Amino acid sequence: IIPAAQHVHTLLASYPDFPQPGILFRDLNPVFADAVAFRAIIDDLSERYRGQFDAVAGIEARGFLLAAGIGYAAQCAVLAVRKGGKLPGTVLTEEYDLEYGSARLELEVGQLPAGSRVLIVDDVLATGGTVAATARLIERAGYLTIGVGVVLELAELDGRSRIGDAPVHTIVSV
Ligand code: PRP
Ligand code: MG
Repeated sequence: IIPAAQHVHTLLASYPDFPQPGILFRDLNPVFADAVAFRAIIDDLSERYRGQFDAVAGIEARGFLLAAGIGYAAQCAVLAVRKGGKLPGTVLTEEYDLEYGSARLELEVGQLPAGSRVLIVDDVLATGGTVAATARLIERAGYLTIGVGVVLELAELDGRSRIGDAPVHTIVSV
């Protein structure tokens, strides 16, 4: 069995100056498009936190791919943390800065019992703004973030420093 990290190293694609000059865009789609690699990363993230979470929160858009797989593998609840303006009813909103631009993330209230243990997942940890905003949403909704799982960490941006106390597991750090 090839470890998840090796799949990522082999399949990860990089695009200089996308979507704007100065940004080195990391594309994980070739990892998701490889059946064995995709399964390996889902298994890796699920196993790392096995038994510790009641729900997995995926961050729109690319985190959704991971959350769905982990929710199935772990047979747990799935939360969709969405970009601003997409959710009906009573929603919580957090603003955050991106490596390029700024945006809002939102979560519907009342989906899980209070105190539910949530694993946050996303494809890439860059500045950490996205995950940090998600962790604030989880807390404001009355849940507990037990950990963060990402496929790829851009270590020089030090996203971990913005996330707080929750353990962060990354399959590959570059
Ligand atoms: C990318 C990536 C992470 C986030 C990481 O998403 O998928 O979610 O940026 O950046 P940060 O750590 O600096 O906050 P993006 O907002 O580009 O949108 P997408 O997932 O919808 O493509
Ligand atoms: Mg994203």
